[in-house]
Amino acid sequence: MNEKRVTFASKVGVIAAAAGSAVGLGNIWRFPSQTADGGGAIFILVYLGCILFFGIPLIISEFIVGRSSQANTAGAFHELAPGAPWKWVGRLGVLTGFIIMGFYMVVCGWTLDYLVQSLTGSLHKVNDFSANFTSLLNNPLRQIFWMILFTLLTAFFILSGVKKGIEQSSKIMMPMLFLILIILAVRAILLEGASSGLSFLFMPSLEHVKPTVFLDAMGQAFFSLSLGMGCMITYGSYFNNRINLTKTAMQVAVLDTMVAILAGVIIFPAAFALTANPGTIVDELVAGGPGLLFITLPGLFNQMPVSMLWAAMFFCLLALAALTSTISLMEVVTLYLHEEYRLSRKMSTFIVTAGVIVLGVISSISAPFFNLLDISSAKFMLPIGGFFISLFVGWYLDKKMVYAQLTNQGTLKTAVGFLKTYIFLLRYIVPPAILAIFVYGLTG
Ligand code: PHE
Repeated sequence: MNEKRVTFASKVGVIAAAAGSAVGLGNIWRFPSQTADGGGAIFILVYLGCILFFGIPLIISEFIVGRSSQANTAGAFHELAPGAPWKWVGRLGVLTGFIIMGFYMVVCGWTLDYLVQSLTGSLHKVNDFSANFTSLLNNPLRQIFWMILFTLLTAFFILSGVKKGIEQSSKIMMPMLFLILIILAVRAILLEGASSGLSFLFMPSLEHVKPTVFLDAMGQAFFSLSLGMGCMITYGSYFNNRINLTKTAMQVAVLDTMVAILAGVIIFPAAFALTANPGTIVDELVAGGPGLLFITLPGLFNQMPVSMLWAAMFFCLLALAALTSTISLMEVVTLYLHEEYRLSRKMSTFIVTAGVIVLGVISSISAPFFNLLDISSAKFMLPIGGFFISLFVGWYLDKKMVYAQLTNQGTLKTAVGFLKTYIFLLRYIVPPAILAIFVYGLTG
């Protein structure tokens, strides 16, 4: 892959695109329901540990693999380790991306449906938000319609090219999303009874902890950071040589974590404050499943003046945040077909779109299938990918090359201690920890 590749135009664009991939439904929809399921604060503590010990080193690693190879996910391994079986790590990543899209697009569809409900004012008139969400779940055609629309929208951006599509859209919507989340968080905290939601979120209690908490939190960390499948490899391949990989990785991790925590600070205070049965709210949350966001938030909007406007703005921004994530997912799979099979970008996009729609239709019809795609990708495929990426960068790649990437050929003053710690984590901490979590989660 030696032809001159397009690169992102600016530093802000790089962060916006990488953070745009990371920040999405994973933070705002999946994180709260996983936190509820995992019993609150303890889950969050484990999650933060995963971000720190797996997340940041692995984002840096994917950036290194991408930028040094200048290729798609599978091609990158091929380029750096010609003839070796490492390319299967890339192929696994491509498959994982495809599987994630197969359920993610359905949730993207839900956000569009809720956007329309907000715009027409029908959401505003709902009395039972739980029944309102269930009626969407029980209507496969409605879900399929929005899912297809969202998939086509993503394909449109993929076809319109890297810079214009990804960079521009991320740059505008990320700050807006942040702003509205802060407003909603303030509103939620000010509700009467909100404080028990905050303690559920921040005061560790062992009461609802499950033995799978490590597996669940690790999966969520990988999912939320778009790690383990080569999204960050693909984006790293568009970075120029002046981008500071470590700094960018940290910025992405911090932004992503802030958005997830903010989403928690919106959902939990609101859920505790607005519930009709405070006695059983924790059990309800634990049992809640994927509907939390779509059930709790409309209740919060109804507590605000001009509720329709807030709801519409929120679901619009959420859809955009999801879009920057689906763009990154589709880009991985499309670029793979384009570069490895020499298909045109158009043809590659067409094939991926059709495949995703097929999976999306099945996920819309069958909740068990939806869950299967969610669990297998987030809890297994991504961490397995991460396991091999850390072995690849920690043990296989030439350390001099890794250091050159981290220091931009010696032009950045990166502390030697940092470089050593980074390699140590990749070699001795990340792989065994991922294995231990698998063993513990599956047998515990
Ligand atoms: N990180 C995205 C989110 O949180 C989802 C995603 C996962 C995107 C894996 C790309 C790769 O919504």
